[in-house]
Amino acid sequence: MTQTTAAPRMNLVGRRSPYIFEDWDARIFRVNREVFRSDEIFARERRLWDRLWLYLGHETEVPKPGDFKIRTLAGRPLIFTRDSKGQVRAYLNACPHRGTILCRETEGNAKTYQCFYHAWTFANTGELVGIPDPGAYPPERGFAATMGLRGLPRVENHRGFVFVSFALDGPSLREHLGDAREYLDFMADHSERGLEVIPGTHLYSIRGNWKLAVENAMDGYHFSPTHVTFVEYLKTTGYATSDEGGRAITLENGHSVLVFSGHGGRVGMQWEPRFGEAERLRVEENVRELTRRVGQERAARVSSTSRILFIFPNLLLFDIEGLAARQLEPIRPDFTEVRAWELAPAGESAEARELRIRILGSFIGPGGLATPDDVEAYECVQRGVVATAGDPRPEVDWSDISRGMERESRGEPARNVDEAGIRGFWRHWDDLVTGTKA
Ligand code: FES
Ligand SMILES: [Fe+2]
Repeated sequence: MTQTTAAPRMNLVGRRSPYIFEDWDARIFRVNREVFRSDEIFARERRLWDRLWLYLGHETEVPKPGDFKIRTLAGRPLIFTRDSKGQVRAYLNACPHRGTILCRETEGNAKTYQCFYHAWTFANTGELVGIPDPGAYPPERGFAATMGLRGLPRVENHRGFVFVSFALDGPSLREHLGDAREYLDFMADHSERGLEVIPGTHLYSIRGNWKLAVENAMDGYHFSPTHVTFVEYLKTTGYATSDEGGRAITLENGHSVLVFSGHGGRVGMQWEPRFGEAERLRVEENVRELTRRVGQERAARVSSTSRILFIFPNLLLFDIEGLAARQLEPIRPDFTEVRAWELAPAGESAEARELRIRILGSFIGPGGLATPDDVEAYECVQRGVVATAGDPRPEVDWSDISRGMERESRGEPARNVDEAGIRGFWRHWDDLVTGTKA
């Protein structure tokens, strides 16, 4: 895979669908704003999510046997746990008896789950182990054996990142990740001992459609105008950002990645003045260790570029400032919940960890200098796209995503300040929603 994956030849096809207008002669790419407002499209997306691989969480969120966290994916309540035998599992959080929410804590440690309604009790390995008045059921029919916790049909782990699917069959996780796996691995490569989630979850909501969060993350164009406060702050620390050398890369299956080389400060990997002198030495040592472990060429890719990776449809990974993950959970067409975590090399020093938390919190945390700006942007878009709904004039109810098509049509690689990554997302979304691709 090279950085010119967004091959113009492939993209030059163009498309007309109810939602996407792509015309390479005119260098125009437009998205119909109904995609952000429609209940009907939202319902179709929900059905699609039932077939896709979805990011559930990182295995280190449930480090000890019995640890569990509650999650909701595609509207379905789930239990994410490590069972008493050490296996990571995902169950539907609905009692097999009559569907009651089984676990009503948000997190904890449990060998068993007892439903409060009729007190059926389930081991964290899934078996129904307790049922009041068992003589009311005929034991010889194996009743209990059929009424264990409902596990998700498919659960797979890629280097600690746990994905699930509600579908019984379909592409493997490996096939789904495709060439995005390389970028996920760049993140996991940060540490010989693997990554761990720093305890604690950021949970926040956005009064906007989930696809606006994807557009925003794959949009380097907005960085300077929207995050002017951060850009000005960086200047005061003796560091200037630049768009030079940045790329937008469209990957398989709707995934995409923005690569930055001019806004590079990352705790543990790429030093900049605001991190302080002690961190400079740690970074040098980390890069030496990385080079020994993965070789010079790969180490250079891991250590010298920042990345934002979108794994279709619900995971955003930030290898900028530090390491962070965001999970998108669409609630309604105009409302999205976000769960976010900070990741770190397992077992890093207390000083490095403290700096990491401070730097991540100051930029991409929910109260940082970036995220509130971005949330304001999604919400303003959501409020704005109502204005043009049903407008009879051509082009009015369409958003423009054409930036960079002129360069792409000349065969040049897409820059991270172009909108190529967003176009890649929309093409895949359109294929799925219109049924062009199964
Ligand atoms: S619904 Fe759970 S025990 Fe009856
Ligand atoms: Fe932003």
